[in-house]
Amino acid sequence: MTPFRMNMNTEFLTITGVPDQDRPVMEKAAEVIRQGGLVAIPTETVYGLAGSALLEESAHRIYEAKGRPSDNPLIVHIAGPEDAEKIAYPTEAFDRLARTFMPGPLTVVLPKRKNIPDAVTGGLPTVAVRCPSNPVAHRLIEISGHPIAAPSANRSGFPSPTTAQHVLQDLDGRIDMILDGGPCEIGLESTVVRLDGDECTVLRPGAVTVEMLSSVCRSVRVAEAVLSPELAGEGTPESPGMKYKHYAPRAKVILVDASDKAFAGYILEHASGNYGLLVSNEEAGQLPPGGKMLLTGPRGDAREACRRLFSLLRKADELGLDCVYAQLPPTDGEYLAYYNRIIRAAGSEIVRP
Ligand code: TXA
Ligand code: MG
Repeated sequence: MTPFRMNMNTEFLTITGVPDQDRPVMEKAAEVIRQGGLVAIPTETVYGLAGSALLEESAHRIYEAKGRPSDNPLIVHIAGPEDAEKIAYPTEAFDRLARTFMPGPLTVVLPKRKNIPDAVTGGLPTVAVRCPSNPVAHRLIEISGHPIAAPSANRSGFPSPTTAQHVLQDLDGRIDMILDGGPCEIGLESTVVRLDGDECTVLRPGAVTVEMLSSVCRSVRVAEAVLSPELAGEGTPESPGMKYKHYAPRAKVILVDASDKAFAGYILEHASGNYGLLVSNEEAGQLPPGGKMLLTGPRGDAREACRRLFSLLRKADELGLDCVYAQLPPTDGEYLAYYNRIIRAAGSEIVRP
């Protein structure tokens, strides 16, 4: 394998979805993983930057390629929940969550075993464990025979990639390979939880909602920094990822806490120049002309809004927008994940007209 350089040749390979046809590509990607190299892969949430979770060198490469602080731990992906005990000490509550939500967009923090290098967990005694449902991610873990450390495959601080093109924009020349398996179904990263016995704390909200977790865990708490990311900077955050500015496009995101009518009034009064409006299809027709429309989908469709968010934030930059206006979203159900990402993109600033 080529030694690590920042101007390496990144191979871009397409996955057809037909297992026999994809076999040679998957074998090649698995060999890159076993040799300590990096492959960007589709998952059901966002594209991940995959490296072996058993090799310290791979973790260092991931941090370097992303430009990510090395105290922000990586999620380790396994083929199925039964493999959790190979890298961690699963608990009874883990088993119950796993039966209901794995494979899928749920990550559980567990005490780690010694075979996972400290470099993977940022020196923490715990490891975040996830079983992706995406078949490409799943097969890469199986064929390589390695658990896979994979953060989102973006440059640190930028919105997570939901297509292989996004990965190419951020990481071309910095990683060995990109597997293009089409756009991601969910569009936001997995739900991350910590367990204390039967009590579950949501460290990062995702498609497995608080309501869904409550059907399995006796109590579910949402960490304060989920709703107020500015709090994560103070003291020791519950999850290291909380303290970093995230998901931000270059354009300034301005969140307005207002009804539809008041929002339209605010835009009329304040918006000028090269700006965008991140709004539902229905709302778009109600707003004064002049802004570029960044459509989140039908009104009230949280799932579609989540699927589109990161791609729309990237589009804002492609359009060279100076700022993007959006209404403050609700926080129930799948909207909590949307709220958490957009409030971070806005640097926690909310305008209350
Ligand atoms: O959907 C996802 O989870 C994607 C795909 C690629 O699987 N991965 C992802 O990884 O979002 P990353 O590294 O961008 O985010 C990992 C999050 C961070 O917020 C980190 O702080 C938290 O998980 N985390 C990881 N290990 C942890 C641990 N031991 N304790 C607490 N939080 C942890
Ligand atoms: Mg990330």
